[in-house]
Amino acid sequence: MTTVMGFSEDIRAVAAELLAQDSVTIVSHIDADGITGEAILAQALSRAGVTVQSVFVRQLEPLTMRQVPEDATFKLFCDLGAGQQNLLAEHGLSEDEVAIIDHHVSQPCGRDYLQVNCLPYGHTKLSAAGVAYLVARAIDSGNTDLARIAVIGNIGDMMAREDCGLVGIARDIAQEGAEHGAIEIRQRDLNCYGISTRPLHLCLSYTDDPFIPGISTNAAGALRFLEKLGVPLKDTARRWLVWEEIPPEDQRAITSALAQQLLANGQGISRLFSESYLFPGEPERTPLRNAQEFATLLNACGRWSRPGVGGSICRGDRGSAYREAEHMLTNHRAIIRELLQFILDSGVTELSHLQYIHVGNRYPDTIVGIGAGMALSKLAMHKPILIMVAQPEDPELTKVSLRTTTRMVEQGVDLQQVATEASAKFGGAGGGHRIAAGAFIPRGAEQEFVFHVNELLAGQCPCPGTGHR
Ligand code: C5P
Repeated sequence: MTTVMGFSEDIRAVAAELLAQDSVTIVSHIDADGITGEAILAQALSRAGVTVQSVFVRQLEPLTMRQVPEDATFKLFCDLGAGQQNLLAEHGLSEDEVAIIDHHVSQPCGRDYLQVNCLPYGHTKLSAAGVAYLVARAIDSGNTDLARIAVIGNIGDMMAREDCGLVGIARDIAQEGAEHGAIEIRQRDLNCYGISTRPLHLCLSYTDDPFIPGISTNAAGALRFLEKLGVPLKDTARRWLVWEEIPPEDQRAITSALAQQLLANGQGISRLFSESYLFPGEPERTPLRNAQEFATLLNACGRWSRPGVGGSICRGDRGSAYREAEHMLTNHRAIIRELLQFILDSGVTELSHLQYIHVGNRYPDTIVGIGAGMALSKLAMHKPILIMVAQPEDPELTKVSLRTTTRMVEQGVDLQQVATEASAKFGGAGGGHRIAAGAFIPRGAEQEFVFHVNELLAGQCPCPGTGHR
């Protein structure tokens, strides 16, 4: 694995600083990337004899800073911190008690905190868990078993989405995991979510990237399409097969028919295939079998305030933690389905370059972005979607999530930039990625905020295409 000089030095500096500590508190984010990053760092440090405790926060902000213990332990921020360095300084944290492992845009700060961040070195497709893994390897080159967890973090943070596979250092990490034997990399696999757990027709009907006419958002259509091909869709026990179980020759027949369907509708086939990362050592037909579904399981834990349960699963717990996570996943999916239906039933308000909805205080702010992303495939996909939700625990704030498609990102849309700039104008704060971003804004500013977001989007992509439909 090759990393440029400055980046390697930063990795080594953080690793050395951590090894010099007796006791470290990891402060990490509640999403799949934060959970995997924490699991990697905690295991690497414990193996090196350092005492570790961890706290997870939803966002690093003045309220959640209270969760950071005021004790003598060294504070290691993971998947957050780079953009909130002034907050760390305001909190009284000095340079000799902090390190930051992150992949978000860094905030200029009077204090020069020790930091390893892949972004300034141009690695835009590496997540915090990926950086955490590089630090874990610098702590001990034997830590390659942790590559698998890093792959889940990278996938969970959508690092493979644009290119239909991991690239650069994130791909090198996957390769290292494959060499270690924990990962099977399948090139040109079906670009579809749920290859290990969903009956194939459902798996295909949920796919919106690429949007396959007659199949996407149409489970009955997907089933008719597959039945016509004459490939067996059930096993001898009459159980629906999942994609992973379908023999290679049948898989080829299915993908070539899907390609024909796309071509017949004048669409490209490049996004039909993607690289997938499977974990053959895990039980079949479970979300533990591939990086995408594993990441969802962890997100379900985090988004429902049990990130530590996800952490236990990353450390190998397949007993009580896994059972608890399965319940959370079921609940997570049921609420997201309900939210999706709510968005579709209520309808969105369309502006020239944006569609938006306010869902009151009906749903937790941690999942509205996921529901909005799913709703997008059933709406006008060429307009990014913005969803707002009230914050019961902080009535002065409204949470905003923004989602768009890969196609719109290719045409110039950058939601991270929009969320940051528009929220700052109203005294809020936001961030994220080009395809998915979020922000908090003051309550009362919603209407003006959405108009401003619309203007910014118009500036980024003046003449959006008409999308898939
Ligand atoms: O909350 P949501 O799922 O919409 O977040 C999407 C992305 O935006 C995540 O990467 C999250 O870290 C980021 N975000 C942010 N600042 C916020 C809210 C979300 O940077 N206030």
